[in-house]
Parts: sequence; structure tokens; C-alpha cells
Amino acid sequence: MSKFAKLDLGDKIIELPIIEGSENEKGLDISKLRSETGYISYDPGYGNTGSCSSAITYIDGEKGILRYRGIPIEEFNREKPDFLETAYLLIFGKLPNKTELDEYKVLVGNNEHLHEAMKHHFEGFPTTAPPMAMLSSMINTMSCFHPELLERGENEGYCMTASSLLLSKIRTIAAYAYRQSRGMPSIYPIPSLDYAANFLHLMFSLPNKRYEVDPDIEDAMNLIFILHADHEQNCSTSTVRMVGSSQANLFASCSAGVCALWGPLHGGANLAVIKMLEEIHKGDISAEKCIEMAKDKDNPFKLMGFGHRVYKNYDPRARILKKAGDKVLAKLKVKDPLLDIAKKLEEAALKDPYFVERKLFPNVDFYSGIIMRAIGIPTNMFTVLFSIGRLPGWIAQWREQVKTPGVKISRPRQIYTGENKRSYIPMKDRK
Ligand code: ACO
Repeated sequence: MSKFAKLDLGDKIIELPIIEGSENEKGLDISKLRSETGYISYDPGYGNTGSCSSAITYIDGEKGILRYRGIPIEEFNREKPDFLETAYLLIFGKLPNKTELDEYKVLVGNNEHLHEAMKHHFEGFPTTAPPMAMLSSMINTMSCFHPELLERGENEGYCMTASSLLLSKIRTIAAYAYRQSRGMPSIYPIPSLDYAANFLHLMFSLPNKRYEVDPDIEDAMNLIFILHADHEQNCSTSTVRMVGSSQANLFASCSAGVCALWGPLHGGANLAVIKMLEEIHKGDISAEKCIEMAKDKDNPFKLMGFGHRVYKNYDPRARILKKAGDKVLAKLKVKDPLLDIAKKLEEAALKDPYFVERKLFPNVDFYSGIIMRAIGIPTNMFTVLFSIGRLPGWIAQWREQVKTPGVKISRPRQIYTGENKRSYIPMKDRK
């Protein structure tokens, strides 16, 4: 097969090199398109644009496949690795042996406290402050307390230090954001607890009453973090890379990632799903009406937790979470009517020609909220938990970008559609 594709521009035919990934996906290298022809590609939303090559995560959206460093996502459910093990795999590209993982956990443990001055920042936020705003601000604030990490290091030593620090402190920051919004007294992490258990302790323990972590709930929390750990060039990860491409530091880049994740079309969908299910439950709207509104092109309403830019098949993470939801609710002896509503809504949507033709399936956000709700996580913290989960991916992608020689600043072009040249009109002459 030819290694070039031909582009016929009428007056000129040019050859575009074909590049091929390790799973046979193919792309056209158009990096010289503008300099050779004066044309640019036009792809709003970047649905057909490969912004980089990456060896971290593989998705086949048509088949519903997701792999971290080659390992199918289903194996992370079956083998139940620790979240930090998954983070290590994504960031450093290999499964750690026991010594490596133990050492990494020690590094994470050593970093779990926040600088006292950083803790005072929380007092400045109103109790109504959205936790996602606090999270993004505090991650950026970390730059002020760790100037030694502002130099962008690509070596393993830098990445061990920076990643363990960030993974550790994001958990403390997230829990403190929640405690601030509830006016709860601060509490310290317990180094002997594993990552997810320590997070639950930081969220729910009181100085005079320790939260007893149920192993099944810890498992569910761990699973939620792992399933969100990376998803190749999604909106927030592309944001991290976009910011990183200007050679901004890791804290600034990840803080921007949190902001991008916040929106309801991305990580904020987990919260929007619960709001939608609650409205159905309260009787404010029926499930049929939701589907009808989602299909109506004059209505901006979308069926939240449905559809995906890449998956044109069932999102494998949603499949795992749907099963995990049954288990967690049974364990906690919770009968959540929202789970039944979600399942009925899914059944109705998957039979409807509108959703079938467009290949719209439940995504990761459709069932995750139901599990978090059962654990006692308030809805405004859902996307914060997604951020904790996604952090290893952001760090891994940032590091991969730093390590890639010759990376250029991300700077798309545009097709200008505004006024042609005209003169400035002084105020006195304006109508
Ligand atoms: N409800 C109703 N219609 C939908 C939905 C939905 N949830 N999702 C997509 N569609 C329709 C689109 O309107 C479009 O219809 P058309 O062909 O008649 O114009 C068609 O399906 C194709 O969808 P796109 O617009 O190409 O999808 P896109 O890739 O731009 O958007 C997105 C993906 C943002 C996830 C979209 O499906 C959506 O808004 N879903 C709801 C929000 C959500 O759950 N977001 C979480 C995504 S997962 C994550 O980020 C972690």
C-alpha cells in the first residue's frame, strides 16, 4: 500500500504521508499542508484531528475497547490493582514490582499533608464555593509551595517526586474542599491506609469519631479512580497538553485540566446525570419526556451520561460500573430508586431508533454517580473524584509531551469570517 495519500486541489496535487499506529489506526500527516499549499484543515471540535502520538492509552471506540499501556480495562476490575499501581503503570509505562510500588507508596504517604499556609487558603473560600473551583485553585497554588518542581523535568527522579506529591495532595485538597463546604473540622491523613481508604477517611472521619472503611466500599472507590485514570486525548487531557505545550509547569497544566473537566459535557456529566434522574424520580419530568427532549433538534437538552466522541459502542467503563453499582448498593443495603430509573432509561434509549442510528450508549458518567451517592459522596464532589482519578493520566500525558523531542506549542489556525479592512470611526462621528 502507498505510504502517501494524494490531495487534489485543482491546480495542484500534493502527497500527504500516511502514518500508522501500533494498532493499525491510520492518519494523514498534514503538518506541511499550509506551507506547501496555503490551505489549512478545518475540523471544529477536532473530531478528525490527531494532536499527538501517544503510547499510553488505546481506545477502539467502534469495538468498545479501552487499554492502559496495552492492558484491557476489564483486567483492572478482575485483578483489582491499587489505584497507585495503575497510576505508576500509566506514568512510568510499566507495572511496578513490589519494591517499586512500596517505595512509590511511601513517597505518596510522605506528601499527604498540606503546608499549614496552604490550609489557610481554604478559610478564605465561602462555604458555597464550588469544590471544582477550590480544587483547581489549590492545585495551581501548589506551584507557590514547591518552586523546586517548576522546572520541567523529564527524568524519572523528577517525575517520581512531582507525581507522588501531586497524587497525594490532590486527595487531601479534595477532602478539605468538602470539609470546608460543610464547616467540618480538619483531620489528618492516616499513612497506614491505602489510597482510596485514606481518601474516605479524610472525607468522613471526625476528630472524635473515625470513619470505619468497609473493604467493599474501598474497592468501589478504588475502582472508580482506576476507571477514570486515563482516556487518551479527551477535552481535559488535551487541555493539559495544550497548556503544557507552552512549557508551563505541571501544576499549572493539571489545574487547567480540572477546569476543562468541570463542564457538563465532560466530567461534569456525572453530576448532571444524577440531577436528571432525581427530576424523573420527583416526577418533575418523565423518562419518556427526557428521551423525547433529547431527540428534539430544537431543544438543546441532551440525555446526560449518553453518547461519546469516541465510543460508538457501549463504553466498557460504564459496563463495569453498572455491575459494580448493583454490588455496592446490595452491600450497603441501599435501595436507590435512581438505579432502577437509570436502567429503565438505558433500556428505553437503546431501543429507540434515534439512539440506535447514532450509536449512542451509556458512558462512564451514567452509573458512576449512583455508586458515589451510595457511598455518601455529595453530588458537588462527583467531578472532584473524577479529577483525582484522571490525575495519573494528566501527569502521564504531560510527561510524555515533555519527553518528546521537538514538540511545538499548540496553536491552531482559524478561518476568519469577520469584517474586511475598514477604518476606525471616532466616537463623535458614530451614529
Ligand atoms: N442526547 C441526545 N443526542 C445526542 C447525545 C445525547 N446525550 N449525544 C449525542 N447526540 C446526538 C447529537 O446531537 C448528534 O445528532 P445529529 O447527528 O442528529 O446532529 C449525534 O448524536 C452525534 O453526536 P455528536 O454531536 O457528534 O457527539 P459529540 O462527539 O460532539 O459529543 C458528547 C459527545 C459531548 C459526549 C455528547 O454525546 C453529549 O453531549 N453527551 C451528553 C453529556 C455527557 O454525557 N458527557 C460525558 C461524556 S464522557 C466524558 O467526558 C467523561
